[in-house]
Amino acid sequence: MRLTLKTGPEKAAEVYTGSAVFQELKTWLGNLSSVTDSIFILTDKKTRSFCLEHLTSVVPSLQLAEVLEIPAGEKNKSLKSAEHLWNILAGKGASRSSLLINLGGGVITDLGGFVASTFKRGIPFIHIPTSLLGMVDAAIGGKTGINLGDIKNQVGTFHHPDAIFIHTGFLGTLDSYGLLSGFAEIIKTALVADIVLWEKLGSIRLQDLLNRQEDEAIWEDLVSASVAIKCSIVEQDFREKNLREILNFGHTIGHAFESLSLQKNRNPLSHGHAIALGMICESYLSTVKTGLNSKDRDAIIHMIFPDYEYYPLHGEDLDFLMDFIGHDKKRTGSGSRFSLLKSPGNAISGVPCEAGEIIESIDFYRTLER
Ligand SMILES: NC(=O)c1ccc[n+]([C@@H]2O[C@H](COP(=O)([O-])OP(=O)(O)OC[C@H]3O[C@@H](n4cnc5c(N)ncnc54)[C@H](O)[C@@H]3O)[C@@H](O)[C@H]2O)c1
Repeated sequence: MRLTLKTGPEKAAEVYTGSAVFQELKTWLGNLSSVTDSIFILTDKKTRSFCLEHLTSVVPSLQLAEVLEIPAGEKNKSLKSAEHLWNILAGKGASRSSLLINLGGGVITDLGGFVASTFKRGIPFIHIPTSLLGMVDAAIGGKTGINLGDIKNQVGTFHHPDAIFIHTGFLGTLDSYGLLSGFAEIIKTALVADIVLWEKLGSIRLQDLLNRQEDEAIWEDLVSASVAIKCSIVEQDFREKNLREILNFGHTIGHAFESLSLQKNRNPLSHGHAIALGMICESYLSTVKTGLNSKDRDAIIHMIFPDYEYYPLHGEDLDFLMDFIGHDKKRTGSGSRFSLLKSPGNAISGVPCEAGEIIESIDFYRTLER
């Protein structure tokens, strides 16, 4: 499947999914060969070992590419890594006619996108996401970025890659932690914009899905559906002025959970796991604020538990969460603003919520402890 992601005056990105994706990549690179002077592949240590050899065996011309490797992990989505990569590109004579291929999860596509969009004021780059989160979320939509100290995605650009090639076969080596993390974003995408996908998810047992990690057909189906929805939303609002904000459902409280778990170093939650817990709280808020009915809220909880573990809250955790939400970048004016559901498949952004309502939603989450 090929989608073209257009964004007004910004350039368009081609998104390729499906079984012919490497053939599409070969053709795409072939069309580029007369204008590209060198190709670089950015990857992390782990993705290199799991995915690079497969890529270069099916697209042999990439065996000549220069490989840039960074250690795996969120802490490497940093200014230090960006500077290191800019220096390597400069040292190896990269120019505006060079191509950077980002092969990896969201850390690689965010960092590589940022490095490419700023080096020499922007060189061509493509994403080949290898994690589920990368495929359905991080690689799609043109947000690039690095963390500044502990603050995530504080520096970055809106800049589409030239193309995105999604090969769900790479999921075969991803652990269930990584699959669950990406799956939460598929749940979210369905909940904010596509009742059909939501109903399809309801007919699938998550555990069965995790056990069918290598079943490309089923993953291709889910990934393509999710990607198509995100593309359609991003096309209408590239710079996140209004509609795109609905994709933040679950993220305001989810980011607070993520940050709490990282700060406490107590079983750090994956991004998607934290968003899943955030979706529980924000589904509760949706029943209070935007008319989501409690049957739908319970179906959402049922989709999330027990596959995503309950994260216990102790002592002063509530204060931490509330402080974090107070500092959330989506806060404007007096109350924090949330993207909430009216019903599955139908979301609204910018809903102001008072501190008492947010606390109530976290208290509701606490009642679900088992
Ligand atoms: N730009 C956006 O719109 C956007 C959206 C969502 C998330 N993000 C960012 O994405 C990042 C999280 O992405 P992530 O979960 O992919 O993290 P990640 O890139 O750190 O990947 C997670 C782990 O999986 C490994 N991995 C990747 N593909 C693999 C494969 N096929 N087989 C085995 N191991 C594999 C990686 O090496 C890494 O160790 C965060 O930095 C987040 O801020 C960005």
